[in-house]
Amino acid sequence: MQDKIVFLEGKRIYLRPIDLSDLETLQRYANDPVVRRYLTNVIPVSKIDEETWIKKVMTRGGDVNFAVVLKKNQKLLGTMALMKINYVDGVATTGSMLGAKEEWNKGYAKEAKMLVLEYAFMTLNLRKICSAAFADNKGSIKHNLNCGYKIEGKRIKQFYRDGKYHDEILLAVFKSDWLKLKK
Ligand SMILES: CC(C)(COP(=O)(O)OP(=O)(O)OC[C@H]1O[C@@H](n2cnc3c(N)ncnc32)[C@H](O)[C@@H]1OP(=O)(O)O)[C@@H](O)C(=O)NCCC(=O)NCCS
Repeated sequence: MQDKIVFLEGKRIYLRPIDLSDLETLQRYANDPVVRRYLTNVIPVSKIDEETWIKKVMTRGGDVNFAVVLKKNQKLLGTMALMKINYVDGVATTGSMLGAKEEWNKGYAKEAKMLVLEYAFMTLNLRKICSAAFADNKGSIKHNLNCGYKIEGKRIKQFYRDGKYHDEILLAVFKSDWLKLKK
C-alpha cells in the first residue's frame, strides 16, 4: 500500500490534498440531504460534477482545499477549505464540509479548523479569517466559536431553504485571538 500523504497533522485527524480516489465518498457527502442542508449547493452532484471539482482543486493556486482524514482508520471525514485568499488585506474565508455525519460533535472539525487557521496565520501570513453560516446551523456556529471566531454581523433573510428565508451569521477570527486560544 502507498504511504499516506500528510500535509498538516493533528492529534486525531490529519489534512492532505484531495485526490480522485476521494470521488465516490465526496460525491456521497455532497448529495446527502442532512449534510447539504445548510450548504449553498441545491443541485444534485453527479460523478462528473464531483470529478470536475476535484480536478480543479487538485491543482495549486487559488483556494486551498484539504481532505480531513481520521488517523485511527484513514476514514475520509470530509473537506475544509481556505477560500477567497487576499494577500493585500490579509484575509480569507474558511468553509467546512465534514460529510461523515456519524462523526459529528466529536471535535474533529475544531481540530481540523485549528490546523487550517495555524496554516493561514503562521504560513500564509494572513491576519483575519472569516466564515459564514445559516443562523439555524447551530453546530457550525458553535464549532467556529470554539475556534476563536466571533460573530461580526448578520445578513437578514439571505437564504431560501425548506420553504422559508434564513438569516446568515457572519463570523471572523483575528490572528491575535487565535494565538491566545492556542496557548
Ligand atoms: C459544521 C460541521 C463542520 C461541524 O463538524 P463537527 O465535527 O461536528 O464540529 P465540532 O465537533 O468541532 O463542533 C460542533 C459543536 O457544535 C455543537 N452543536 C452541535 N449541534 C448543536 C446544536 N443544535 N445546538 C448547539 N450546539 C450544537 C457541538 O456540541 C459542538 O460543540 P462543543 O464541542 O462545544 O460541545 C459539520 O457538522 C458539517 O460539516 N456539517 C455539514 C456541512 C455544514 O453545514 N458546513 C458548515 C457550513 S457553514
